[in-house]
Amino acid sequence: MEQHLPLAEPYRIKVVEPIRMTSREEREMLIRQAGYNPFLLPSEAVYIDLLTDSGTSAMSDRQWAGMMVGDEAYAGSRNFYHLQAVVEELMGFKYVIPTHQGRAAENILFTVMLHEGNVVPNNMHFDTTKAHVLHKHGRPVDLVIDAAYEPGLPLPFKGNMNPAKLEALIAQVGRENIPIVMLTLTCNSGGGQPVSMANIREVREVCRRYGLPLFLDACRFAENAYFIKQREEGYRDKTVREIVKEIFSYADGCTMSAKKDALVNIGGFLALRDQDLYQKCSVWAVLFEGFPTYGGLAGRDMEAMARGLTEVVDEAYLASRIGQVRYLAEQLTAAGIPIVQPPGGHAVYLDAGAFLPHIPRDQFPAWALTVALYLEGGVRAVEIGTVLAGRNPETGAHDYPRLDLVRLAIPRRVYTDRHMDVVARAVINIYSRRDQIRGLCFTYEAPVLRHFTARFKPVDAA
Ligand code: F0G
Repeated sequence: MEQHLPLAEPYRIKVVEPIRMTSREEREMLIRQAGYNPFLLPSEAVYIDLLTDSGTSAMSDRQWAGMMVGDEAYAGSRNFYHLQAVVEELMGFKYVIPTHQGRAAENILFTVMLHEGNVVPNNMHFDTTKAHVLHKHGRPVDLVIDAAYEPGLPLPFKGNMNPAKLEALIAQVGRENIPIVMLTLTCNSGGGQPVSMANIREVREVCRRYGLPLFLDACRFAENAYFIKQREEGYRDKTVREIVKEIFSYADGCTMSAKKDALVNIGGFLALRDQDLYQKCSVWAVLFEGFPTYGGLAGRDMEAMARGLTEVVDEAYLASRIGQVRYLAEQLTAAGIPIVQPPGGHAVYLDAGAFLPHIPRDQFPAWALTVALYLEGGVRAVEIGTVLAGRNPETGAHDYPRLDLVRLAIPRRVYTDRHMDVVARAVINIYSRRDQIRGLCFTYEAPVLRHFTARFKPVDAA
């Protein structure tokens, strides 16, 4: 019987950037010099870099061409108007403030909306969002469904917020103490899991009843929309653009890190429906970022962003993008490797607790796995576990998260499936001799954000 043709990437490669595989001896030396912290490795010492999908995308020839038509006027750049038109057409928001990246949009929004003692519900806060809420002396609360914390459970929409938890929180703290409700699409901290349209609608309905504004953390909106098309009843025959339009129709605005689903290396924006809120935010934009028609970016950056936002909703692109993440996940699953199921839109998450059960949590099993992965294949991944979580400020003890994970985040349009084969083989090799992997202890630990600068040594090393 004839077989279907495989789906290949919907692009061909016109520019290449050489990368180099190092020898095992070199990597042993390099990681020791980096204090066993992959963040401290020079990027040139890395063969396949899966540290993040943020700002690491390959831009298209159209985006690069757009960089040449940057209008670098201080006010009223034509690229700003282009960006504004694309955002309005795609998301339906009339007001856009460009920012240098996603967290800058969070800073402006929370400066205007949050007051001391306020509570901000989210399905799961990303670290910077959480940090910005805390910085304004607010309390971030994660209300994701409980299934999100069960890595082996393959549900289609593990990023959903539990609306009953939202109602309970409102009853507990009072609606007047909740300035804003947020949903993060896809839910990065929960494994890149999507939120269903039905759930967005349900959360919207609770917000409407209590008169609360709903904002989306929209970094990976296109990947979320693609999952809705694939997995949610009633959406198979809709275009991704239609789905995106519907998603944003339920929201009052969004913060966006364009370093993800706008396929650029730097940039972000705050988009709003309400003119009054826009005016309040633009005052702070001037102070923190720049005049509201450039807000921290060059004209050329805004042009690349506008073009990237159009490319990212192309369904052939999304099929290839999500397909590549699934391709890696399927190889690992077939080899019995414990990963968060189902795989997310931008990354595969290894369940380090299940992978290395012999390493106690205070010897950082997920961190040890990132070190092993670098030694094995020159692959750089990131720990989303105990080291990242930090210490409880009152007791000084490790603030153990529910899971110790390793994120293999896949940059957009950068690596081929052959690179994914290398990553899969490296993980499988390590798994076959996992009992030999040792835990780590600190030799240096900063009081805050310790993961970026920490230094370690293997536990039984002198
Ligand atoms: N929200 C989410 C869900 C994110 O994943 C990120 C960044 C941000 C906000 C902040 O955006 O970096 O442009 O300021 N995530 C990156 C990551 C850093 O590796 O997941 P930013």
